[in-house]
Amino acid sequence: EIRTKEMKKLVDFLEEEMKAAFEKAGYDPNFAKVTVSNRPDLCEYQCNGAMAAAKTYHKAPMIIAGDVAVHLEGSEALEDVQAVNPGFINMKVKKEFLGSYTQEMREANQLGVEHDSQKRCIILDYGGANVAKPLHVGHLRSAIIGECLKRILRFKGHEVIGDVHLGDWGYQMGLVITELRKRNPELVYFDEQYEGEYPEEAPFTINDLEEIYPYASAYAKEHEDYKEEALAATFELQNGRKGYRALWKHIMRVSIADLKRNYENLNVTFDLWKGEADAQPYIPDMVKMMKEKGFAHLDQGALVVDVKEETDTKEIPPCMILKSDGAALYDTTDLATLVEREKLYHPDEVIYMTDKRQELHFVQVFRCAKKTGIVPEDTKLTFIGFGTMNGKDGKPFKTRAGGVMRLSDLIHGINEEMYKKIAENRTVAPEEAEKTAQMVGLAALKYGDLSNQAAKDYVFDLDKFASFEGNTGPYILYTIVRIKSILNKYKENGGDMAECRISEPHSESERGLMLEAAKFTAVMEQAYEELAPHKICGYIFDLANSFNRFYHENRILGEEDKEKQQGYLALLDLVKDILMTSIGLLGFEAPERM
Ligand code: ARG
Repeated sequence: EIRTKEMKKLVDFLEEEMKAAFEKAGYDPNFAKVTVSNRPDLCEYQCNGAMAAAKTYHKAPMIIAGDVAVHLEGSEALEDVQAVNPGFINMKVKKEFLGSYTQEMREANQLGVEHDSQKRCIILDYGGANVAKPLHVGHLRSAIIGECLKRILRFKGHEVIGDVHLGDWGYQMGLVITELRKRNPELVYFDEQYEGEYPEEAPFTINDLEEIYPYASAYAKEHEDYKEEALAATFELQNGRKGYRALWKHIMRVSIADLKRNYENLNVTFDLWKGEADAQPYIPDMVKMMKEKGFAHLDQGALVVDVKEETDTKEIPPCMILKSDGAALYDTTDLATLVEREKLYHPDEVIYMTDKRQELHFVQVFRCAKKTGIVPEDTKLTFIGFGTMNGKDGKPFKTRAGGVMRLSDLIHGINEEMYKKIAENRTVAPEEAEKTAQMVGLAALKYGDLSNQAAKDYVFDLDKFASFEGNTGPYILYTIVRIKSILNKYKENGGDMAECRISEPHSESERGLMLEAAKFTAVMEQAYEELAPHKICGYIFDLANSFNRFYHENRILGEEDKEKQQGYLALLDLVKDILMTSIGLLGFEAPERM
């Protein structure tokens, strides 16, 4: 077992030395905060503590900075420590230290990223597709970001239960049933007298379903009586009409099989395939409790729970538990789902991921769940709202015909575009090209999404996302492929990676690459704490750029100094591992060639 070491962040090492120096100089070590320099042209790391300490000690910051700097002479990790006006302490990392730190990363468990000391059970509610409706790009972000967060949380050692939480209980079901009835009134599902078993085989295919739902939905908008019928069918389904329940099961099975294929193409998997319907059995008892304990009251016929708080700056309307006709709502389902989750998993945290326009809904649900005791006080409830994926016109992404783009069509389009590029490059055998195109296409799509801060809207620009240059998924993959090919050539020529260790940097570009690599643990910690995939993207883009600079300025396989060459190769190996680990967390893979 080689990879068992755990390690501190580089910046923590530096800070430890800084603290000791503050103490030796007679100052409170709490001032000794070290950060990555915001002027990389001047130094690599910096400490601004002397400025803060000046007030406490009634001394000029420059004097304090100077006092401290003296005690960093002969430091193990720092060199070039300088006090500069008006009291910054600027520093560089010592060559030897940088070498041994990055070499240690190679030997460490998870490249030095440690598990959290407290393992938590976290339910991640993402995906959120609606059954019987085609999966559209609106659900794409939830799936992509959710999958990434799941992987980040697991990387930090937590138990994560991913639940797709299907929309499988609403009006769309009534619409499909109504349309089926209009087309095939003779089916046994519509015969209320029917006592026998229902057929195993669904009376429709996924293609039928995809055509039926949009048709029925549009038709209902134009025809009031049809809409009434669909609402009635929804109500009857929810109240247990046998034939409708049987049809519902068919719709579920056919639709879920299709959804699974779609999610698989996205490299997205769920541990639970539950949905709104699974929460229904919990509703009656939950409503009873809310009434008995006096949380719920009637408001214009509807049953509601007040959730506003004194400190609110805007109006937070009450949580709607039951409509005046007794029907359950989106609030109800999400609350009952929390009842179930508490009962089955007793999670430490539940994280939801939807379009940010649902934020108010979740504020209401979270408050209500806490207030009514559905979840314990110390259970963390987190909402992550993401922005809209827009087209180049700045409006929500649509097809050329103006409709909502289906996810499978979108993916197909990307793969085709990628295939053209890959085939043109001629680096991949024809029989490999399709698979490679899929891998690179997925990277283009996911990276294009994840590299933006989730809460922001972004423009889906396929030309940009699919480019092999710039801040894109394909650029990252291209860099990985380049490193792999160098390492492979080295091995093919009889080189032994086991002999390679990172030593001191020999040039500015090598040093830059090592410094970038050394930031990995700190970046991962931040991405985890802020649940922010874009931090990983920003980092690997910088790392890839550092590598490419190094690559263009140094001969690697042609290097004649054996020790120097082995150091290069070990560093490449580390950079490759960091990039591979990172894209694994982002949710895509790299091909061998592209
Ligand atoms: N099905 C919902 C939609 O399409 C998303 C579900 C999100 N999860 C939840 N627990 N409400 O908008």
